[in-house]
Amino acid sequence: MWKPSQRIKYQTEVAHWPTKDAAAGAQLFSPITVGSVKLEQRTWIPAMVPWRSNEAGEVTQDVIDWYARFAQGKPGAIVVEATGIRDIPSGPLLRISDDRYIEGLKKLVDAVKEASGGQTRLLIQLIDFLNIRRRPDPEKYFDRFLVITAEHRQALALQDAPEAKVRQALASLSSKTLESTLSAREWDALQFGARDRVTDMENPAVADLPKTLPPLFAAAAMRAKTAGFDGVELHYAHAYTMSSFLSATNTRTDGYGGGTEARARLPLEVYEAVRETVGVDYTVGCRFLSDEIINQGSGLDDACFFAQAFAAAGMDFLSLSRGGKFDDAKQPRVGAAAYPYTGQSGYECMPAYLSDEQGPWGRNVEPVAKIRTSVREAGFITPIVTAGGIYSFDQAEALLSDEKADIVGFARQALADPDWFEKVRTGQGSDVMLCRYSNYCEGLDQKHKQVTCELWDRTELNSKQTVLATDGKRRLTAPAWTPTP
Ligand SMILES: Cc1cc2nc3c(=O)[nH]c(=O)nc-3n(C[C@H](O)[C@H](O)[C@H](O)COP(=O)(O)O)c2cc1C
Ligand code: SF4
Repeated sequence: MWKPSQRIKYQTEVAHWPTKDAAAGAQLFSPITVGSVKLEQRTWIPAMVPWRSNEAGEVTQDVIDWYARFAQGKPGAIVVEATGIRDIPSGPLLRISDDRYIEGLKKLVDAVKEASGGQTRLLIQLIDFLNIRRRPDPEKYFDRFLVITAEHRQALALQDAPEAKVRQALASLSSKTLESTLSAREWDALQFGARDRVTDMENPAVADLPKTLPPLFAAAAMRAKTAGFDGVELHYAHAYTMSSFLSATNTRTDGYGGGTEARARLPLEVYEAVRETVGVDYTVGCRFLSDEIINQGSGLDDACFFAQAFAAAGMDFLSLSRGGKFDDAKQPRVGAAAYPYTGQSGYECMPAYLSDEQGPWGRNVEPVAKIRTSVREAGFITPIVTAGGIYSFDQAEALLSDEKADIVGFARQALADPDWFEKVRTGQGSDVMLCRYSNYCEGLDQKHKQVTCELWDRTELNSKQTVLATDGKRRLTAPAWTPTP
């Protein structure tokens, strides 16, 4: 992963935890209404893909165990990981792309209700993503994948030569000559693996996204409602299709790219299709970026514009993330796919303990506060969810008191200790296992390995109750916590 040049080491420490009485009077543990549901407290576990599904994209027992474990901590809400809305093979990514998934998803909803004693609301994040291929072996790329064009022939002065000869000639070029001989996209495909962009208007499937996506999202949201989820979060963040529509790099000329209004058009049309399908009494919000953190990308002003537009359209909550783009991802090794959290934008999405003067904690707080202010100034009371490097009660409570957000997201801190919420609420904060922001978990995610936390995955490995990862070396869920009576 990208690291800031300053490389200052930070250590998570908490000098003060609230007593049970102080926690009872805290804003963090006060209820809030989000659309048609009431959260018992203003705590939220943002979506995290743990790679617990199977090749069919189903809810497995491991998926159920994972979310039930989070639910034992009784946070206000849990957002289930990015879940695919298209009925296509997507590796072990959870899917909600057909009615056959509803039964499994119902079991997940039931498990969370039971484990939280009905205290935790459950939402699910709906994702669409475009095709991405692994970085090719150059030999195979020139042998098979590259489509030979008149431009290649002309550059090599091989206009009438058999195709095999053109392929051989290209394969023998130096890197430097090759870069000027191939088109920018061909060069990129060779270096990183081919990847579709929302601006590929010559590709009919991409050109048609404004027609195909609204019904796909709407059908997925209806399945979520049928399965009993309390709401859906439309994934408009990071490196995926909807975020790419919002991006300032979206130069589509069909009315869905260019200025901020045109870029927000499809996200709004998707929302409208979802709303029409699930009705006014169902919680629907989205997650998008306070800043893309890439050259020529959308920044805070764009985010304020989008937030106001989404609030005006009637979204029930706005959850803000940051960065996480393909545009600045590191080159993957041959045979691996690019991962959108390896560049600076990835760092801003999941800041780690080696950081700069600003440090890894709360980097998204001020931008989100500005977005919230802009939404309030436009006359909307839409709850705003913030996240990014938040691990202590004081941090969370201060940002609520200062009206910088309405709900506080704890992703890696909840992974490190799913009981954070119950421990802090009951005055046992000193028992909290603090996240180190090591990004060990994120490294596992990058390799599509079952995500665990280094703080607990080797604990009580020999116990009969412990379910191990496929590598046999790690436990799959955090160890149980026995509260002090
Ligand atoms: C293992 C892992 C998987 C993640 N998967 C998702 C995801 O599916 N959807 C999403 O919007 N964010 C995802 N994120 C980002 C988190 O939701 C969160 O925004 C980020 O970790 C910063 O918050 P934190 O500092 O509290 O961890 C993931 C993060 C981690 C560590
Ligand atoms: S592995 Fe654990 S301690 Fe490290 S960042 Fe992830 S959740 Fe935090």
